[in-house]
Amino acid sequence: YLADKGKYRHFMEKEIHEQPEVVARALGYHTSFEGNRADTTSCMDFAGIPSLAISACGTAYLAGLIAKYWFERYARLPVEIDVASEFRYREIPLPPQSAALFISQSGETADTLASLRYCKARGLKTGAVVNSRESSIAREADAVFPIFAGPEIGVASTKAFTCQLVALATLAIGAARARGTATQDEAKALVTSLAEMPGVMGRVLNSIKPDVELLSRELSKCHDVLYIGRGTSFPLAMEGALKLKEISYIHAEGYAAGELKHGPLALVDENMPVIVIAPHDRFFDKTVSNMQEAAARGGRIILITDEKGAAASKLDTMHTIVLPVVDEIIAPMIFALPIQLLAYHTAVLMGKDVDQPRNLAKSVTVE
Ligand code: G6P
Repeated sequence: YLADKGKYRHFMEKEIHEQPEVVARALGYHTSFEGNRADTTSCMDFAGIPSLAISACGTAYLAGLIAKYWFERYARLPVEIDVASEFRYREIPLPPQSAALFISQSGETADTLASLRYCKARGLKTGAVVNSRESSIAREADAVFPIFAGPEIGVASTKAFTCQLVALATLAIGAARARGTATQDEAKALVTSLAEMPGVMGRVLNSIKPDVELLSRELSKCHDVLYIGRGTSFPLAMEGALKLKEISYIHAEGYAAGELKHGPLALVDENMPVIVIAPHDRFFDKTVSNMQEAAARGGRIILITDEKGAAASKLDTMHTIVLPVVDEIIAPMIFALPIQLLAYHTAVLMGKDVDQPRNLAKSVTVE
């Protein structure tokens, strides 16, 4: 592989724009008209397990947290998830009949690999959601679910995140079929929604640049930024905060919108932008009322929503990024795009080394 940025200034920018193409490749591998590929999901025996454990680090952990919502909702499968450095020491009572998934772009992260070995030693069936099929985690797991993101050079993960979500969404749909919690038609409908993702991603990447560049100028002057969301938008809020702090060194936190008044609201004033991630889903009204609490304290609101949400919420103090209306299952992947681009453009404006942020490494092979 030739490390070539093509027409882009940084690998991170290139990798963000590669997403329509790489998620399409991941989808091609993981989906079929039956709703999932039986050859990959069958090795996990989703029908027979009482629970699923998930362990990962960094952005891969946040992909796992989104997947927890999917496995629980669609497949009625309880998920135990933690960052690998805690998972491996927590002495979780794991039923030996259960299964465990390990998510890792590199497949070499020391704590994730140690979690895998820990679960194997306890008799659990293990699956690896990895970008590199030759990696240690892929080699040692019972089943491998490749994400097809291609080489990711930027230290801050972008395309691997959305490709991990593709693999995990299809696994959740496969689990729902295996467990009889979704009919063939329901599974097909979910897969049809997933198939729309590459096209929507392409359109969103083409349309949001002016808004993102404008907002990045504001963010680049801030010391702290708060991201909030509910449902799968909550892990996405944490991913938004992680992306921003990794590459711009601006302090950022991702919070469950409902927790705002249990702490972070005390920090909100006119110097603290609050980025609200709110597709027009079943949580929308609740998230908007949290947003209004922040606005009432002078917080500068940046609302990332869809066309329906934009029509339903009007606040003077607000900037909005408006995305197309999409099905709930692909919203996290679509809403990931403005979040990645906001972090990227903010860091570039601040003159930071976005591909190689200080103190961080692409692959963390020490504990
Ligand atoms: C490092 C990288 C992150 C990545 C994490 C987990 O912190 O900077 O982008 O999410 O490791 O890496 P893995 O290869 O296990 O996904």
